[in-house]
Amino acid sequence: MAEQAKRPVKITETVLRDAHQSLIATRMTTEQMLPIIEKMDKVGYHAVECWGGATFDASLRFLKEDPWERLRKLRAGFKNTKLQMLFRGQNILGYRHYADDVVEYFVQKSIANGIDIIRIFDALNDLRNLECAVKAANKEKGHAQIALSYTLGDAYTIDYYVKMAKQVEEMGADSICIKDMAGLLVPYEATNLVTAIKSAVKIPVDLHTHYTSGVAGMTYLKAVEAGCDIIDTAMSPFAMGTSQPATEVMVETFKGTPYDTGLDQDLLAEIADYFRPIQEECLKSGLLNPKVMGVNIKTLLYQVPGGMLSNLVSQLKEQKAEDKYYDVLKEIPRVRKDFGEPPLVTPSSQIVGTQAVLNVLAGERYKMITKESKAILRGEYGRTAMPFNPEVQKKAIGDDQPITCRPADLLKPELKTIEKEMEQWKQQDEDVLTYALFPQVATEFFKYRQAQQTKVDVSAADTKNKAYPV
Ligand code: CO
Repeated sequence: MAEQAKRPVKITETVLRDAHQSLIATRMTTEQMLPIIEKMDKVGYHAVECWGGATFDASLRFLKEDPWERLRKLRAGFKNTKLQMLFRGQNILGYRHYADDVVEYFVQKSIANGIDIIRIFDALNDLRNLECAVKAANKEKGHAQIALSYTLGDAYTIDYYVKMAKQVEEMGADSICIKDMAGLLVPYEATNLVTAIKSAVKIPVDLHTHYTSGVAGMTYLKAVEAGCDIIDTAMSPFAMGTSQPATEVMVETFKGTPYDTGLDQDLLAEIADYFRPIQEECLKSGLLNPKVMGVNIKTLLYQVPGGMLSNLVSQLKEQKAEDKYYDVLKEIPRVRKDFGEPPLVTPSSQIVGTQAVLNVLAGERYKMITKESKAILRGEYGRTAMPFNPEVQKKAIGDDQPITCRPADLLKPELKTIEKEMEQWKQQDEDVLTYALFPQVATEFFKYRQAQQTKVDVSAADTKNKAYPV
């Protein structure tokens, strides 16, 4: 028998982004990352995902760190490895739609500060919401990876994804990611999906999934056999549960096969040794809840991403209504259907989740309707795969005319106004973008930064220390 041609699978490491976002609420600090990146740089990863998603918000809000500074430090350490970020299309890293000038500027600055690959997705899979970011990434000579948000439902057939994959290739994507944020893609379905997409497009296909439902390792195996080029994994101390399958496990799985990654297990073991005490510390402090590390099969039953489940628990706790957990879980798919059956990922997951909680707690469906729910039903987030429930839409927006164009076409350029608004805080161009995304949190951070600098300034003068934070 002729030997099968070698087709090594590539690994994107997520420990610096999705893994800690999924397991410890995105609380890994730059200081915790820096000592290990020299070693990580030697692994030969396809890419290290390290920025975007919730990291930006959490850095500013909870860690009092400048996310741009983190990116520059990572870039300085990763001399040979591509750095990847996650980008929410027209939402950038925030929760609303931004005007094109902000999107373009954000892409430009991300690449200028060190990002190589921008993974761009839209919560509704409305490709019009990706156009601006993809064009900007192409223009800045970045790698534009377009992600298809994977979900289940009447609209989401293999044909749906194949059609989308072809459109994505035509739009100028350099690669495609199947983004399964809830761990819904089961192994044999991965064979069908990846085979179909691979035969429809020429660009590489990356599969991103979560271990939440326990099938992810097997899903990667079947996907790779079917032609998947890249898989996303996390170093074992921050793997599995609501995070990704472990890097070392997948590397071992493919060893000696045509898909052999060629990565060095000894080196990976050293990196795991570094992260293990951090994991233990997180367990001790309660930041890492052992509950999120197990298999949660409910995610398959309710098709709800892991992060959304934990949000739900805390929302209900606040309302002293934890006994309503299962009622809300049952309400989520109903609301989702009323809202055109969108994939559940930021921000649609929060919008659907919050509305489901309100529907249950109010004792009457849509008695109270959130601003964001109204916006979705008005078409402000774009087009959904299925139509809205007309009765619910009418209840939410009355006789308002829903939007049918690309939502950002209705937004005037806003960068100049934003810059003016935050002028007093600006120390670098990137600050304008930080403020654009999270005006309140950014202002708090800028105040904190200024106070720190004053402190350092005074002590520097005292000790004649020349060091000044820049
Ligand atoms: Co993810």
